[in-house]
Amino acid sequence: MHITYYGHSCFGAEINGKHLLFDPFISPNELAKDIDIDAIKADFILISHGHEDHVADAVSIAKRTGATVISNYEIITWFGSQGVENGHPMNHGGDKEFDFGKVKYVNAVHSSVLPDGTYGGNPGGFVLQTSEGNFYYAGDTALTYDMKLIGEYENISFAILPIGNNFTMGIDDAVKAVEFLKPKKVVPCHYNTFPIIEQDANQFADKVKDSEVIIMNPGDMISL
Ligand code: NI
Ligand code: MN
Repeated sequence: MHITYYGHSCFGAEINGKHLLFDPFISPNELAKDIDIDAIKADFILISHGHEDHVADAVSIAKRTGATVISNYEIITWFGSQGVENGHPMNHGGDKEFDFGKVKYVNAVHSSVLPDGTYGGNPGGFVLQTSEGNFYYAGDTALTYDMKLIGEYENISFAILPIGNNFTMGIDDAVKAVEFLKPKKVVPCHYNTFPIIEQDANQFADKVKDSEVIIMNPGDMISL
């Protein structure tokens, strides 16, 4: 499995030959200005919630690639209204088998409204179970005790967690989330994009004890 970071909370994942893209927010992100959006491949686009900093480039990439968008029912309905033809609606607790692996939509404690004010349903994250490893993409969320269940139940090999504070959990709560999730590796995100979420990811790395912290910069790719 290859993971590419496109800044903020946007990641690409290549799994079993399929390209997944999470929460594309690239063109408005100064830290991601060197990313060539038109070169990003996507068979599936997974959207955690409706906020602009998670969907900014999703419609254009979905139309260019023909990718299937996976999110909650309300967000998929909105993508349909934007002319995106392929959508797969889910809701919390449900999972669905795709050709790259199984996706479960899980709770996030946050909010969700689309850029034009349309109701975006309840926000979520994703647990992916694949033959190349299982991982948890938290989306924007507070620390929740539900993460302990994910850690006990889903055999997570790595996790992608927000650490920016203010709008999501900050470093100390993300450290607790790692204790709950017990991933082998963890990648922090949703920090430094804006002044209000400036954080030192090295502090997160110092505080996490039993998992390897991988700090990625926009454009970085890792193989897991
Ligand atoms: Ni948000
Ligand atoms: Mn956000």
